[in-house]
Amino acid sequence: MNKITIVGCGRVGESTAQILAKEELCREILLLDIHAGVPEGVALDIQESASLLRFDTRVTGATDPAAMAGSDLVIVTAGFPRKPGMSRSDVLDSNLAIIDDVIDNTLRYAPHAMLMIVTNPVDVLTWHAWKKTGWPRQRIFGQSGALDTARMTSFIAMQTGYSVKDISALVLGGHGDAMVPLARFTNIAGIPIQHFLTDDEIADIAERTRQGGGEILALKKHSSAYDSPAAAIAIMVDAISHNRRRILPCVSILDGEYGQHDIAMGIPAVLDENGLVKIIELKLDQTEQADFQRSADKVRTDIERLT
Ligand code: LAC
Repeated sequence: MNKITIVGCGRVGESTAQILAKEELCREILLLDIHAGVPEGVALDIQESASLLRFDTRVTGATDPAAMAGSDLVIVTAGFPRKPGMSRSDVLDSNLAIIDDVIDNTLRYAPHAMLMIVTNPVDVLTWHAWKKTGWPRQRIFGQSGALDTARMTSFIAMQTGYSVKDISALVLGGHGDAMVPLARFTNIAGIPIQHFLTDDEIADIAERTRQGGGEILALKKHSSAYDSPAAAIAIMVDAISHNRRRILPCVSILDGEYGQHDIAMGIPAVLDENGLVKIIELKLDQTEQADFQRSADKVRTDIERLT
């Protein structure tokens, strides 16, 4: 990829820019923010680490959205973070206006880009962006499942003592407390997770995963997670940038898959240089499908607030 714009110079935006720059996932990164001086300062700080960390990526900052021109990918991290005790849905109204602005600017200055939504509530805002742009779902998707799955993987590694490198987990559904960690699709070195953990231990890990973002927010109090969300974004960018055809959980518009229409939710999808090119539809059992439906109902409640 040649150029990536990251909209929002908060902690997630900054941490994402650092990883993308260091991993040389594109030639040029633009940080865009409404607070004059902030994106320029953040970009300069990252750029000055280039000779130490040995990367060639060019990092710039701007407040003028015209600077987005020529972007291959726009990553939206701008928005109000939730405070302890708030759900992701509680920031919907405040973040909707921000997203609307970003979409207008993207349509105007980067009409051929792909759009990756990270701002919460990510499922609803991805759906909203899809409606507003009219773009095919291949070019418009969100990040949440890569993060939720990484959290589940970490908790399994902590509990078992085995390497995260051998653990493969899967979390689907909306990015909220009703997300759906799937033990049946989780294994260590190909061996089902049930071989290593009791049902109670697996249930505890699933619950900790569902509350993963809230756990960090409650500890830090003044900030949500940002290093792991940035790493999750970077994994998706890497799949696109290197045309890897990786299967990653992504927020996607569903058009009949998993029994859902006209909604965006987390499902496994293939990511390559053309974006989200294929949805992998799993055969869920009755309990899993009921959990997925419960998560969909929550996302739909928020969508209905917009329509
Ligand atoms: C989290 C926020 C970023 O899960 O949604 O940490």
